[in-house]
Amino acid sequence: MEYQTLNNGLKIPTIGFGVFRVPDKKECEESVYQAIKAGYRLIDTAASYTNEDAVGAGVKRAIAEGICTREDLFITSKMWVQDMQNYEMAKQAIDASIEKSGLGYLDLYLLHQAMGDYFSAWRAMEDAYKKGLLKAIGVSNFYPNILTNFCEIVKVKPVVNQVELHPYYTQEKALETMKKFDVVPEAWAPLGGGRYNPFEDEMLKRIATKYNKSVGQVILRWNIQRGVVVIPKSTHVERIKENIDVFDFELNEEEMKQISSLDMGYSGSRAKHFDVEFVEMCLAKKIHD
Ligand SMILES: NC(=O)c1ccc[n+]([C@@H]2O[C@H](COP(=O)([O-])OP(=O)(O)OC[C@H]3O[C@@H](n4cnc5c(N)ncnc54)[C@H](OP(=O)(O)O)[C@@H]3O)[C@@H](O)[C@H]2O)c1
Repeated sequence: MEYQTLNNGLKIPTIGFGVFRVPDKKECEESVYQAIKAGYRLIDTAASYTNEDAVGAGVKRAIAEGICTREDLFITSKMWVQDMQNYEMAKQAIDASIEKSGLGYLDLYLLHQAMGDYFSAWRAMEDAYKKGLLKAIGVSNFYPNILTNFCEIVKVKPVVNQVELHPYYTQEKALETMKKFDVVPEAWAPLGGGRYNPFEDEMLKRIATKYNKSVGQVILRWNIQRGVVVIPKSTHVERIKENIDVFDFELNEEEMKQISSLDMGYSGSRAKHFDVEFVEMCLAKKIHD
């Protein structure tokens, strides 16, 4: 496994395993277990995915079988907007995520969106970080203007910013801002999230054939080579294994450029952070009573 060093000295695996849209507990537990067995050490969940408990179960199974120790793992979760209303609610949300996972602490906890009273929520995360309940704290979906303001204001700087990053939305400007503040970029939807159909792109297929790799492996490798941590999701064991097998080849400069040229300059996902409707939808979304 390769690692990047976060601005608090902790090491984050370059590749992790995402569990968005895996609500079925058994399926989630099994996928997490298979991922750890395949060599993943970073698991990415969120309170809003409602599977923190299943992630914890998969992790505990892997530890019980001696595949790894708790200390080898890097478990990430995220606070949902509903709990980002004030310090006390945020504190309770952190405790609830840790309790649901059953893992004693979380390695990384993120503000899921730059919505609600995210500064008060961050202060609760800073306090949990100081107590050792969260080993690192970061943000998600913080666009360059918001990230700049945030990093200038807060006491504990975010270690990571998890945003949509793939060849069809390369977000070069966002990467520059993260670099400026020593915030590691982490890609959600690194395979395109089931959109854009990269698997049928002739240029990507040609590069994949050259290295005897799949298109999925090529686009994960492209992000890793530009310094981005990737967290692909799959519930299929063969794909879980395929997606982590990206450390035995290297794309050249020309190929990196060709892949970047697929950039559309905007997100094709439903998570449109610049749209009022999306913000309203997130503010209204309840994940608990
Ligand atoms: N912070 C945020 O706001 C945010 C938003 C979205 C996602 N995330 C995180 O990022 C993770 C990854 O994003 P994502 O799940 O949206 O998208 P993704 O990982 O880019 O793509 C997942 C999709 O690709 C398929 N797939 C996986 N491996 C494949 C392969 N080798 N060949 C072909 N298809 C493959 C999966 O299907 P199968 O499962 O059927 O294999 C699934 O449909 C999430 O799970 C979550 O942890 C965070």
